[in-house]
Amino acid sequence: MATTQTPIVVPFFDQATWTVTYVVHQGQGKACAIVDPVLDYDPKSGRTATRSADQVIEYVTSMDLKLAWILETHAHADHLTAAQYLRSQLGGKVGIGEHICTVQAVFKDIFNLEPQFQTDGSQFDHLFVDAERFAIGALEGEVMYLPGHTPACVGYKIGDAVFVGDTIAMPDVGTARCDFPGGNASVLYQSIRKLLSLPPETRLFMCHDYPPEGREPNFETTVAAERAGNIHVHDGIDEADYVQMRQTRDRKLEMPVLILPSVQVNIRAGHLPPAEANGVSYLKVPLNLL
Ligand SMILES: [Fe+2]
Repeated sequence: MATTQTPIVVPFFDQATWTVTYVVHQGQGKACAIVDPVLDYDPKSGRTATRSADQVIEYVTSMDLKLAWILETHAHADHLTAAQYLRSQLGGKVGIGEHICTVQAVFKDIFNLEPQFQTDGSQFDHLFVDAERFAIGALEGEVMYLPGHTPACVGYKIGDAVFVGDTIAMPDVGTARCDFPGGNASVLYQSIRKLLSLPPETRLFMCHDYPPEGREPNFETTVAAERAGNIHVHDGIDEADYVQMRQTRDRKLEMPVLILPSVQVNIRAGHLPPAEANGVSYLKVPLNLL
């Protein structure tokens, strides 16, 4: 019987956006993947920075890891991705779920992007389909299509570890919101049941943590802990109750601070918008639309 691999998972928590970048590997000198890397962005000045990504690079270099994949779980709305910066420094391929094309089409309209902007996912190196298998050296990965928070969300199962993206959160936080364009609470519920049907000891790694007062940020839990104690979707909560709770809650949530800059960069796989005639790249703010 094949034994399940248990990769080393190293989290890098970004205090500014409450998000986590992960490095996944099997030890010194081996291949690695980086999941959901953060590019620092200051909304006051419009300046990007690579402090967070450079910490990840330092770790990868110090461990002599070879970067195989930069994996995006979805087009994030709370941080810009450092995928292209990491790729330029360390190599590797940038992958995301194939349904990113739907998200690109939606936001191409919302931002009235340049006609040349392609909505075929070609800005990424690879578009994953559901259940697709991929390799990180000798580590085996498998894609799980987990829509609901966005229509393109995927999780990455690597050995006994699953990078869940924005589907489920830590048990005392609950689940991801479903009110972004293309989001759907009922679809998210089904995705979460799929995730929670994995073996109980499966390690789950969150995309974020917004801890309740008094708890330090934590990003790792298990299927068993979520099934027993997730405040939104523990065993016994049915789809109708979940959807009602989620929709009521989403109506009270404000848009994330960085949604406008994040989405514009992330649907381009981390490339900035094309520079204008003066050589400067600009982001747009659609008024009274979101
Ligand atoms: Fe998200």
